[in-house]
Amino acid sequence: MKIAVIGTGYVGLVSGVCFAECGHDVICVDNNQRKIDNLKSGKIPIFEPGLDQLVIKNSNEKRLHFTTQIPEAVRICDVIFIAVGTPPLPTGEADLSYIENVARQVAQAMTEYKVIVEKSTVPVKTGEWVKRTIRFNCKSGVEFDVASNPEFLREGSAIGDFLKPDRIVVGVESERAADLLRGCYQPIIEQSVSFDLDKQEVIHQPAQGNRVPFLVTNVSSSELIKHASNSFLALKISYINAVANFCELAGADVEQVARGMGLDSRIGSKFLDAGVGYGGSCFPKDVSAFLEISRELGYEFDLLEEVIRINKLQRELFVRKVKKAMWIVKDKTFAVLGLSFKPNTDDMREAPSIDVINALLEEGASIRAYDPVAMEVAKESFGDRITYCSDPYDTAKNSDAVILMTEWDEFIQLDMKRIHSLLNYPIFIDGRNCFEPADMARLGFDYYCIGR
Ligand code: NAD
Ligand code: UGA
Repeated sequence: MKIAVIGTGYVGLVSGVCFAECGHDVICVDNNQRKIDNLKSGKIPIFEPGLDQLVIKNSNEKRLHFTTQIPEAVRICDVIFIAVGTPPLPTGEADLSYIENVARQVAQAMTEYKVIVEKSTVPVKTGEWVKRTIRFNCKSGVEFDVASNPEFLREGSAIGDFLKPDRIVVGVESERAADLLRGCYQPIIEQSVSFDLDKQEVIHQPAQGNRVPFLVTNVSSSELIKHASNSFLALKISYINAVANFCELAGADVEQVARGMGLDSRIGSKFLDAGVGYGGSCFPKDVSAFLEISRELGYEFDLLEEVIRINKLQRELFVRKVKKAMWIVKDKTFAVLGLSFKPNTDDMREAPSIDVINALLEEGASIRAYDPVAMEVAKESFGDRITYCSDPYDTAKNSDAVILMTEWDEFIQLDMKRIHSLLNYPIFIDGRNCFEPADMARLGFDYYCIGR
């Protein structure tokens, strides 16, 4: 099939590359000329494990192409995925201006039937607006369908998630659109492609017996499935963080509580890791956008307000924990390990490290920081207000305490005796519960963590 993906960010680039790996002809479009020039010469704009090899491989095999020209992609392709950003407005609503702009340009270029697919995360009812925009802007008599196909991949494991999803959801108004979308995903539905994370390569194999569920709904339900899923996961994190705060008062251990809860298959063990709260480009904006669209449609979804409040509070409580551990923060130097919002990505959007570091700088502290891949991106947030170090040991040198913000594997395997010897004081404040309190005490640390 011939597939266009408009917007070549985390979702667009990963989707485009994976569709090409499935054997389709793919054109990735972006209005950022520099990004497209880089991609054409094999330079990948983001850190995502395995992505660079797959871009180069599929470009060399002539299944993956890059352009800034929407009309060219629309002319050639049958299915057009829109994967541009839907960032938050100051009100909390999603900014849909990028979607509208692309829908208009696609419509103006259409001369025959196309399926235009919302891959970006959008509030319910966006499909209706996209349909109207296309109708107003395309030549009369040109047929088209608007469909919704939300994406559930996570940064850091994006290729594996795309090729082996728990489900594929498509919201359609016609069988024709459903069939075209089924065609795009056929190798994934049959599980004849999978991703080997260690070798960082895609494995092609005979179709497996177990098929990935392909759920066909109407457009509004599909849009809602995405917002409801992300908000539910965010709710699960806020819930366990609230339980963690209660554990500290009650003398219980949130790790044990989460394990005991998660063994109930109705609850499940995933997304019950207490910490400094969720960040990233999606949960914060999607919970707010879901809240706002609910209001617009006449429902006060107060539960979502509480999810947001607990998440914000979690960062504040962590700063309070640091202050309690140090007594006086002014003139202290902190070794901050991890800056990205989660491991295996360089994405700093809404990273908890930003709020925590800014709060400590305001109190007069100094920050030495290290992240395995997010240092360059972090410079956009912190500039020269912090010191960037070359590795965790360099970071700990002459610092008064360690603050762990992101649970990179590299940090879990640290030589803790060496860290201990480099610090001025043996204080370790862990925002991700990476270590056993008893082990850290044995090593001589004053160890502070979440809910234990
Ligand atoms: P991103 O900011 O990384 O990428 C968006 C891209 O769209 C940018 O490269 C930008 O230059 C391009 N763009 C903007 N306007 C354009 C136009 N008029 N023509 C062509 N290109 C244009 O965003 P992202 O993280 O990939 O997210 C995209 C959407 O997918 C969002 O709605 C997001 O919520 C959703 N989503 C993201 C993830 C994730 O892990 N990042 C996962 C699932 C869903
Ligand atoms: C999330 C969802 O997991 C994806 O399914 C979805 O497609 C994506 O948002 C999106 O819509 O963009 P992502 O933001 O990449 O993916 O990362 P997650 O692994 O979900 O983590 C999000 C945040 O929650 C991170 O800050 C992480 O540290 C935090 N988290 C996660 C916890 O604090 N505790 C947990 O138990 C799990």
